[in-house]
Amino acid sequence: MGNTMDEPHSGATRAGFDEQSAAETARASKRLLRVLDGKAVDRPPFWFMRQAGRYLPEYRKVREQAGSFLDLCYDPQKACEVTLQPLRRYGMDAAILFSDILVIPHALGQDVTFVTGEGPKLAPVRSAADLALLSGDRIETHLAPVFETIDRVAGNLPVETALIGFAGAPWTVATYMVEGGSSKDFATIKAWSYRDPEAMNALMDLLVDATARYLCRQIDAGAHVIQLFDTWAGALSEEGLEQWVIEPTRRLVQRLHAHRADIPVIGFPRQIGAQLANYVERTGVSAVSLDTGVDLDTASALQRSTIIQGNLDPVLLTVGGDPMLQAARRRLAQLGHGGYIFNLGHGITPAASPDAVEALSALIREWPSR
Ligand code: CP3
Repeated sequence: MGNTMDEPHSGATRAGFDEQSAAETARASKRLLRVLDGKAVDRPPFWFMRQAGRYLPEYRKVREQAGSFLDLCYDPQKACEVTLQPLRRYGMDAAILFSDILVIPHALGQDVTFVTGEGPKLAPVRSAADLALLSGDRIETHLAPVFETIDRVAGNLPVETALIGFAGAPWTVATYMVEGGSSKDFATIKAWSYRDPEAMNALMDLLVDATARYLCRQIDAGAHVIQLFDTWAGALSEEGLEQWVIEPTRRLVQRLHAHRADIPVIGFPRQIGAQLANYVERTGVSAVSLDTGVDLDTASALQRSTIIQGNLDPVLLTVGGDPMLQAARRRLAQLGHGGYIFNLGHGITPAASPDAVEALSALIREWPSR
């Protein structure tokens, strides 16, 4: 494996040190972007899904002062602070914007609230009449505080740290919009999509457009990478996956690349198992985040054609010690020599131990010497 800065910088030999070469230097100094660009790194970059959150006492303190969870998402000063909190402790290679996937339905005009202990509650969209009440007109204005958060975070990051912007993929956001919150079986949205695919397509068109505009503004504000969370992709049949996950994601990725050709997009189609290679090939994502259930041989095979991220069981962060370190070492040893971003198979939970997160981070930061 090569050193971090192993390539001569072409910009340095050009007459005049222009803006483009400054941007290239900044890009080359970030481990996460180097891996996504297919370049050599000294060790795999790492960050953790949901790295900002309730397992951190300093998050709980800001959260208490903020009022509602959505108030925190729309307060650029506080959202910037909680974005940076985990980096101060653990030195991850990337920050992820603090926000939520449900700000999109909120910006479209749907009632969204977060009830402590119960999760999100939305006024469900179940008919053409409900759909007609939503509008994409307010995306840029309603979400302006999110762009300001990105701008602030970007100005406060070390040069080697990347900033990840994100959104929910259209299908996963649609499940919350139609079910009215979290769901176990997705019976309402699935029945709706079988009975009235035209209405479902209209909702998907609205979400693809709104999400593309939202993410393009995140890129303009300073996000270096985009992650698309498709938490509930695994609930669908083969045909459903094609129609409601792959096709909308393909259109979304195309819109992002039309806006910024070299923006890396990481897809997280959770629990789609044998469909992973098809998803990567058809959607055009730059990398794929693997859930906890993906075995390491499958991960290695995927790595031959794409960059992978994942997939340590987040429950290990409540356990710590040898079980966690052994599982992490196994992933680093088997996957760490190819295009690999160390991460979890799903988000950190509130029960995670901050000390376990430190022990894991130290292992990766010092890899391969530990
Ligand atoms: O990763 C990060 O640190 C960035 C912030 C982030 C949050 N949500 C903050 C949050 C990100 C990337 C998300 C994504 C998200 N939100 C997903 C996809 C990823 C996944 O975990 O599957 C989903 C499905 C949501 C929707 C959502 N938001 C639910 C179901 C809940 C309630 C469940 C819970 O954990 O309480 C939320 C609330 C939420 N989003 C919290 C945080 C820190 C907790 C609320 C609080 O602090 O009061």
